[in-house]
Amino acid sequence: MRIAINLGCIVILTGIAAWAADAKAGQAVYARACQSCHGPTGAGVPAAAKMLKAEIHDLKVAVKGKSDEDIREIIVKGKGKMVATKGVAGADIDNVIAYVHTLK
Ligand code: HEC
Repeated sequence: MRIAINLGCIVILTGIAAWAADAKAGQAVYARACQSCHGPTGAGVPAAAKMLKAEIHDLKVAVKGKSDEDIREIIVKGKGKMVATKGVAGADIDNVIAYVHTLK
């Protein structure tokens, strides 16, 4: 019985998480927290790459084959020359991940 209730909770929570990821809300997060380096289309801002002495790959290409968890880890922990993005937490993370997937 307890197991059934727990499973029910997981199904409901998963449903809420899927529903909560909102690419449109994520666009605002992207504009605020990512665009200065990754550019409006995800292609990367050459001046930012130069300043960071880094290569910024096109996000449209770079996120292919990356899971949401991979992208979350990059946002939260940073990767290489990209430092962790401060001020992006909770639903903002899910939303910006959803938005990044819509870049075409
Ligand atoms: C201060 C500049 C800066 C900001 C702001 C920034 N990034 Fe990055 N990002 C980088 C750089 C530089 C790299 C390349 C890191 C490396 O591999 O050395 C990168 C890499 C990435 C990658 C991996 C791409 C690959 O080639 O594997 C993802 C995904 C990513 N960023 C997403 C985001 C998201 C989403 C945000 C906003 C929440 C964000 N970044 C904000 C500079 C930035």
